[in-house]
Amino acid sequence: MCGIVAYIGTKQAQNLLVEGLKRLEYRGYDSAGIAILDASVSGSRSPHINITRAVGRVSALEDRLEQIGGLRGTLGLAHTRWATHGGVCEANAHPHKDDKSGIYLVHNGIIENYSALKIYLEEKGHKFTSETDTEVLSMLIGELYEGDLEAAVQGALREVTGAYAIAVICDKEPDTLVVARKGSPLIVGVGDKEFVVASDASAIVAHTTQAVTLDDYNVVKITRDGFRTSDIHNATVSHKVTQLELDLDAIELGDYSHYMLKEINEQPRSLRNCFRGRIDQREGKIVLGGLTTYAKELVKARRIILTGQGTALHAAMIGEYIIEDLAKVPAVAEYASEFRYRNPIIEDGTIVVAVSQSGETADTLAALYEARDRGALSLGVVNVVGSTISRDTDAGVYLRVGPEIGVASTKAFTGQVAVLTMIALFMARRRFMSADQCADLLKVLDTIPEKIERILEQDDVVRKVTQKYVERDNWLFLGRGYNYPTALEGALKLKEISYIHAEGMPAAEMKHGPIALINEGMPAVFIANRGRQYDKVMSNIAEVRARGGHVIAVATEGDEQIKNHCQDVLYVPEVPECLSPMLTVIPLQLMAYHAAVMRGHDVDKPRNLAKSVTVE
Ligand code: F6R
Repeated sequence: MCGIVAYIGTKQAQNLLVEGLKRLEYRGYDSAGIAILDASVSGSRSPHINITRAVGRVSALEDRLEQIGGLRGTLGLAHTRWATHGGVCEANAHPHKDDKSGIYLVHNGIIENYSALKIYLEEKGHKFTSETDTEVLSMLIGELYEGDLEAAVQGALREVTGAYAIAVICDKEPDTLVVARKGSPLIVGVGDKEFVVASDASAIVAHTTQAVTLDDYNVVKITRDGFRTSDIHNATVSHKVTQLELDLDAIELGDYSHYMLKEINEQPRSLRNCFRGRIDQREGKIVLGGLTTYAKELVKARRIILTGQGTALHAAMIGEYIIEDLAKVPAVAEYASEFRYRNPIIEDGTIVVAVSQSGETADTLAALYEARDRGALSLGVVNVVGSTISRDTDAGVYLRVGPEIGVASTKAFTGQVAVLTMIALFMARRRFMSADQCADLLKVLDTIPEKIERILEQDDVVRKVTQKYVERDNWLFLGRGYNYPTALEGALKLKEISYIHAEGMPAAEMKHGPIALINEGMPAVFIANRGRQYDKVMSNIAEVRARGGHVIAVATEGDEQIKNHCQDVLYVPEVPECLSPMLTVIPLQLMAYHAAVMRGHDVDKPRNLAKSVTVE
């Protein structure tokens, strides 16, 4: 979603800000803008702020900047906007300003009471030039400005409801940058007489790895000599400078054509990292440092609610199956967006697990708070270290799969499934599972990375199969049991980057309606690895074939028989069923990738999508 970069220091800000915006491009956006304070004073000319905005890519903004000869100055703000209030046009792009006070602002989030504030400001004579809630905030700060930018920002934030991460400058204070957050992430990178503020660490690490991650209601006044953190009532707040754990190489594309392809191929390594130090073969147990304090609660848990959105929800659904199957605790996976609004019943012994790559998804956060406020113990299964979910849960387990830049989630999915599998085994071993039984599964779990390597070697086969069906506009993805969520994930991957309509469902559900869709040559992808329901899946395959559908099966290596029942087969190594989704999803990720490339789409910047959905 929207991205913020701001700079105050001794260097020229423009290139640094534009580079920062490029690092945030993966989050998804539709327009970009920049404002830089030119402090040069000559004749009647006093410090002033120049602004440039453009619809489309950051490269369009760069072209604009080149046309006007660039913006000079060492204090500035930049933004990539993902439209919420008002269409995609230059007038709605950030920064927004209040001409009277000379205040410029960039904003991530949504100001919920903007309509009432707008009426108030219009009565005060403010003229609006955009349809955005952000312009309302810039004018409100301007209205309250009496020569102290920090105080004006604090005053305005006391009046607003909603979520925000903001960065603000004022032409009357050429040595001041004020930033603040509530509900939307913001990090202050601390350098030597320079500070880089961004909504995402990836825009900071090229400059400094020392940083302060802001908490809700923090307001930070930054000058070139230092900074002060307060709350919206101006009470000083202590802050902690920590090391950003983000390796610059990890966010570079390297030799790959797309981040998505890089991340698909990284999965053997990312899962080795995820498992490192957590699989204790000798003792036949899982070691999860983040959960030991709550081991007793996990053993006694009466119900586990797993929640998330999109791909994270699909991983949560696999978590639901595996926790019930191995740990024998009732579990349910639910869309965070639905959970939070349905007045959920939280009984004693309920644990809520928030599953999220970014740790910032607004719906997942809201569901987490709802469950926590009703007395549930809260756990996070999160990738981004220091993210809001990781900080606002009682305990948790990091994925440790490294930064995921591709908008379509791949390595985070397998990381989420791996962590949920480990949580299930952590609980199971403390409840009913014997050390031997657990050790048997751990032995296989440890080999998942090398098995994924074997699947990745068949990329060429997957590409050729995809080529056969890439022109088809409707696909089905079908699976049962553990691989029903994998089918959902395969369909989601295909639709979000190749814009092909795809539906995932339990294979048995097909007969209850969707079978009407099947026509001659329609691709139906079946997850048909060997398992408890193999024979039933074979019957479903026959039903599709009987109606002219073309079946692509993801099957177990050595299953030669299946070739007689479908048009194409993609093989994965044999593992116990409960561990199979980490393997069966790999050909589906590759298929979606190839389909998108063949259709000429920008795989890493799919239309309308944002990497991190920080609004409800
Ligand atoms: C799909 C995808 C999304 C996310 C969802 C939740 O490829 O990436 O469906 O999984 O928006 O995001 P996180 O995991 O950051 O909470």
